Amino acid sequence: MLTRSEREKHLGQRGKVLWFTGLSGAGKSTLAIQLERELFARGFFAQVLDGDNIRMGLNQGLGFSEADRKENIRRIAEVSKLFCQAGVVTLCAFVSPTRDMRALAQSIIGAEDFLEIYVSTPLDICEQRDVKGLYQKAREGALPGFTGINAPYEAPEHPWLEIPTQRMNVGQSIEEILAALLPYIRGV
Ligand code: ADX
Repeated sequence: MLTRSEREKHLGQRGKVLWFTGLSGAGKSTLAIQLERELFARGFFAQVLDGDNIRMGLNQGLGFSEADRKENIRRIAEVSKLFCQAGVVTLCAFVSPTRDMRALAQSIIGAEDFLEIYVSTPLDICEQRDVKGLYQKAREGALPGFTGINAPYEAPEHPWLEIPTQRMNVGQSIEEILAALLPYIRGV
């Protein structure tokens, strides 16, 4: 069986999991998708996992109860671990609202490979943006258990990196993430 380091040598990079956490509308997917492209342009091989490709497929049928969210995160972490061990730079963009859920993800993936990025856009800005119109629905009472409105979001205490998108545009955010990430993934 091929080893991880053989795979990493083949790809010329180290596998890692970047775990973006933050409120709905904070900008997690936007950053992950842009970062994927920037990594690709630099010769790295990356893959985004987000609501669009996971909740629509593997995790269709899971809702937003505490138990379903935890199962959502558990499966994503297991898939990320496989990607990571295959040498891929894996970019996960999920609300993952509680410390408990993120600790679960970290324990599955392994602390060595788990890099947590807190996209710390405040609630009022996410709500102003309201890209999907879900905050309005939640305020109207049509969406029970919406994170930040009537379900908790627990901010990470010691994230690997924090990106306050209210003070940094996408380009600056990507530069900051790349500068921190490159030493972890290059040089195999
Ligand atoms: S997680 O809590 O299980 O990590 P995930 O990131 O997969 O959440 O999905 C969050 C996205 O689902 C939000 O950006 C939003 O578009 C949508 N969504 C629908 N219902 C809810 C809800 N009750 N709470 C949060 N997000 C919701």
